[in-house]
Amino acid sequence: SFEVVLQKSGVTLTVEEDQTIIGAMEAAGLEPMTSCEQGVCGTCLTTVLEGEPDHRDLYLNPAEKESGTLILPCVSRCKGKKLVLDL
Ligand code: FES
Repeated sequence: SFEVVLQKSGVTLTVEEDQTIIGAMEAAGLEPMTSCEQGVCGTCLTTVLEGEPDHRDLYLNPAEKESGTLILPCVSRCKGKKLVLDL
């Protein structure tokens, strides 16, 4: 599991291995913007403020993935223990 801090919402969540970031948000009663939930449409595109994303999407180009500043939280995860997102 890893921790996700939603900076604007002031909420910290634990994302379990069998959960997505979006799934953990919904389980906490939040209503994130999503559509495809497969990492293809870009609806859930979010700015990463801290931490290293583990990109699992098909939406960002390689340079965007390399920058580490954007994430598709419907599929992507965290390489470390904690991500801080602009949500
Ligand atoms: Fe489509 Fe996340 S909901 S990319």
